[in-house]
Amino acid sequence: MKRYEDKSWADSMRLRVDFNNMMCEFIGEEGIHASEIYKMQEAVVSAEERMKNKRGSMRWRDLPKTQQETVLQIKQTAQYVRENFDAFVVLGIGGSALGPIAVHQALAHTKYNELSDKKRGGPKFYVEDNVDPEKIAALLDVIDIKKTVFNIITKSGNTSETIAQMLLFIDKLKKEVGDDWTKHIIATTDENNGSLREITKRYDLTTFFVPEGVGGRFSELSPVGLLSAAVCGIDIEELLAGAAYMDDICSRTSDVWNNPAYISAVLEVMAMKKGCNISVLMPYADSLKYMSDWYAQLWAESLGKRYNSNGEEVHTGQTPVKALGVTDQHSQIQLYAEGPNDKVVTFMRVNNYRKEIIIPHVEMFGDLPHINFLSGHSFNELISFEEFSTEYALVKSNRMNKTIVLEEVNPFTIGQLICLFELQTAFAGELLNINAFDQPGVEEGKKATYALLNRPGYDEKRKELESMPEKNEQYIA
Ligand code: PA5
Repeated sequence: MKRYEDKSWADSMRLRVDFNNMMCEFIGEEGIHASEIYKMQEAVVSAEERMKNKRGSMRWRDLPKTQQETVLQIKQTAQYVRENFDAFVVLGIGGSALGPIAVHQALAHTKYNELSDKKRGGPKFYVEDNVDPEKIAALLDVIDIKKTVFNIITKSGNTSETIAQMLLFIDKLKKEVGDDWTKHIIATTDENNGSLREITKRYDLTTFFVPEGVGGRFSELSPVGLLSAAVCGIDIEELLAGAAYMDDICSRTSDVWNNPAYISAVLEVMAMKKGCNISVLMPYADSLKYMSDWYAQLWAESLGKRYNSNGEEVHTGQTPVKALGVTDQHSQIQLYAEGPNDKVVTFMRVNNYRKEIIIPHVEMFGDLPHINFLSGHSFNELISFEEFSTEYALVKSNRMNKTIVLEEVNPFTIGQLICLFELQTAFAGELLNINAFDQPGVEEGKKATYALLNRPGYDEKRKELESMPEKNEQYIA
């Protein structure tokens, strides 16, 4: 029996959202009154109704429970990669890269690539999510392409950045290994559309599919994220079980007080209405550092919208900011405590870190009371006390903050976290009456790039760009 099948273990790992410090009892009139939340009930009920109506199209919610066969195929492929290759490189961008990075950072060894081959047990792991030539050249300096697998991830199958990388690495593979290049490519894409799918069919490449109705930023629990996780030795079944557990909790009741995703969305939306248009996510764990990057995309791209669902111009959204405890206490907290009151800070606390390290007593410094008090405490205590103290400092300045509490960082809690944020985002989208699943604002820049690169069909856009006024030298200092 897997540990997550034991209900008491699963319940002991349940994520909690502690929102005491959002409430007026703790931060005075800057906070939220319980009565205001009760008054939101009507909006909550209609948002819930819309969630139910759209449930069929929210296929990302099915991922935790419907991929048994895919998981088996992924595990087999991952095992083959682990046994036969030295490096596994993800080529992808946005939703096709941030999830794999976040889950790897959370669940693989923090210095994974630097471990010995034996300790790592699988290939080194890289994600190329940019087209910076210096970074690409640097990757080529450290991998042996003959011993590398490239996982090309693009749902649309046409994203220029990813396709450009693909062209480069396939060209290099052909030169190095000839026709065997196909053994070095695994594609993750849409089953029916896109150029990558065309290529996979033409060359019979190993391919995993991003199911229909699963948008990029909601795709981490599909093969987009599962393959790299499995290649790095992460228990993907436990990850999915964690997500399913959280989805069950949030599906059980529409009572916001008992629904962690709904209450989180309600609080953020209420905070926005009070002028808090910045959402800071501050985990107190290096392992969760890139969860903030993943969340930032999810929250920003889903909620930053010009029009609402009635076609009215609303320019809504909340700007996500990434911070890391305790590191950013020494860079950002001053602003959060005393600067403009325009932020909600969400801390992520870990009750039990996977390691414990005691700060030793160093005899020769025994006479220095201002450092000696640390001796005998653990780093675990230090980071936890600092998290508590930062919450306290923000409460003292009457600043809204809440805390997501993880019993420990493991696949089950990370699965819950992913599901929690996805549901929170979808529900916030409904509360704001916008479409959380499109990204029209990203398109304009993409079209301009295509036009500049002479992509067929973009002549009009090119003319439009050429007719832009010349830059004025006066405004360049
Ligand atoms: O969330 C999204 O839809 C985007 O961030 C996409 O993931 C990103 O643009 C990459 O798209 P694709 O997977 O089609 O290459």
